[in-house]
Amino acid sequence: MNLSDIVQTRYTTKAFDPSRKLSAEQVEQIETLLRFSPSSTNAQPWHFVIASSEAGKGRIADTLAGGHAYNEAKVRKASHVVVLCTRQAITDEYLERVLAQEQTDGRFATPEARAGQHTGRSFFVNLHRFERRDAQHWADKQTYLALGFLLLGAAALGVDACPIEGFDQGAVDEALGLRTQGLSSTVIVALGFRAEDDFNAKLPKSRLPADEVITRL
Ligand SMILES: Cc1cc2nc3c(=O)[nH]c(=O)nc-3n(C[C@H](O)[C@H](O)[C@H](O)COP(=O)(O)O)c2cc1C
Repeated sequence: MNLSDIVQTRYTTKAFDPSRKLSAEQVEQIETLLRFSPSSTNAQPWHFVIASSEAGKGRIADTLAGGHAYNEAKVRKASHVVVLCTRQAITDEYLERVLAQEQTDGRFATPEARAGQHTGRSFFVNLHRFERRDAQHWADKQTYLALGFLLLGAAALGVDACPIEGFDQGAVDEALGLRTQGLSSTVIVALGFRAEDDFNAKLPKSRLPADEVITRL
């Protein structure tokens, strides 16, 4: 299947078949895809909680029972549920951690290259921390890149998905103990396979026309 076909046949799955599960290989590929998502300055300010047990999915689903009940069954019946979380602070210690990983992975031919990377990343982080004062928003945007990767990647693997913003972040943070780890939930993706009666599978996709959303110079 080519890319145009993939993006036009993937869709937001509203009802999952609880009897169908992702294979171990699909899960492994999705974990790799999440880890290798790009982020500004390679800051990777994220963490991914992946629930596949009934108990794990239940902890997330239980938080949806109130105002977000329309998303509850998706989480319970999906094969795997990914909670994409964002770090609440990009500290100097964390920047050193990322730098050390890049060193281990062989990114720096010289000490100067290492120092240059650290200076550049610190510049951007401090810009968002102290001048623009939108460090959290900036970090969340990186997590949304992983969301885009995940939605396209799942489709390429033949896995159905439902992205979910309709949830109570505080409740999910509490249920998963995220804040004590310096994390907060940003967006959720339910993964699995569509139920036969998923109404959304039968609807045509709708997008604004190309000439309205694309300017070609
Ligand atoms: C960030 C984000 C959050 C979303 N939140 C929900 C949600 O909480 N529940 C839901 O059923 N669909 C949700 N959607 C699905 C969108 O409504 C859907 O992607 C959009 O209508 C386009 O349809 P398509 O994904 O089938 O192409 C969300 C999508 C995105 C990208």
